[in-house]
Amino acid sequence: MADLLPPAGAAGTLRLGDLTVNRLGFGAMRVAGPDIWGDPKDRSAMRRLLVCAFELGHTFFDTADSYGPNVSETIIAEALHPYPAGLVIGTKGGLVRPSRHRWDEDGRPEHLRRALDGSLKRLRLERVDLYQFHAPDPKVPFADSVGTLAELQRAGKIRHLGVSNVTVKQLDEARRIATIVSVQNEYNIGNRADDDVLAACTKAGIAFIPWFPLGAGRALGSAEVKRVAASLNATPAQVAIAWLLAHSPVMLPIPGTSSIAHLEENAAAAALQLSATDLAALA
Ligand SMILES: NC(=O)c1ccc[n+]([C@@H]2O[C@H](COP(=O)([O-])OP(=O)(O)OC[C@H]3O[C@@H](n4cnc5c(N)ncnc54)[C@H](OP(=O)(O)O)[C@@H]3O)[C@@H](O)[C@H]2O)c1
Repeated sequence: MADLLPPAGAAGTLRLGDLTVNRLGFGAMRVAGPDIWGDPKDRSAMRRLLVCAFELGHTFFDTADSYGPNVSETIIAEALHPYPAGLVIGTKGGLVRPSRHRWDEDGRPEHLRRALDGSLKRLRLERVDLYQFHAPDPKVPFADSVGTLAELQRAGKIRHLGVSNVTVKQLDEARRIATIVSVQNEYNIGNRADDDVLAACTKAGIAFIPWFPLGAGRALGSAEVKRVAASLNATPAQVAIAWLLAHSPVMLPIPGTSSIAHLEENAAAAALQLSATDLAALA
């Protein structure tokens, strides 16, 4: 009998609270227009991309109200609602887009309440499976923002809570307020500045969702990544993703793309095994 496991399922699964997702997720930021601002040039192509991402075995999709703003969440619902069993959508609130190149923090309780309601409406959900506080707001006590989300979780609008762009100290503070199932910080083979946060997540068994898992494309230019890729008959993107998956059992990469060819290439990385020699070369 043919193997029915879709490609992105080859890296195994990971728990987000009581939910189980395949360890290779999909970052849905790039279904919005250029600079993650406004509508994409071809909306129906982005809908097809999202359907294809699920069919390839990505069961965790990452989005945010600020992607567009409001565009990525809306297209996800257009493409996939009513959602297939097994699909877990993680969205985020706490950043606003007053103009094309601005991503401003807004962690005020009143903003987070409104932001969550907007996401629920666009995603056509009564409860978000994973709601992530997008970034601490220096103007608002972190505990006030996380406390508001904990309240909204108790009110039944959020199943699980995550945080993003946090330090170890902020993660510890959030965990004193609520159960945190995921952390989303920038991390990739070429940028390991948040090794301490990853170590804290690995120790606590909290999912670590690296954003810019391909360094927004920059991680693919490394000579070592290219050399290992050539030796395995793989691509640099596949090596960058396989390296993340091998790097920690709590790693949940969410490579982003607006291209079906790249989506297929990236999904196939879930099956790529790096040897001890490859990993040493990439260390
Ligand atoms: N929490 C946060 O603050 C935060 C910040 C940024 C992003 N994120 C999340 O992280 C996700 C991933 O980040 P990202 O999409 O910005 O960066 P990424 O996954 O590191 O890289 C995406 C870039 O690489 C290109 N790419 C993708 N696959 C490729 C391949 N196989 N070969 C060559 N190039 C390839 C894409 O272009 P093509 O479209 O041409 O494939 C795109 O320009 C986002 O979707 C979003 O959900 C979160």
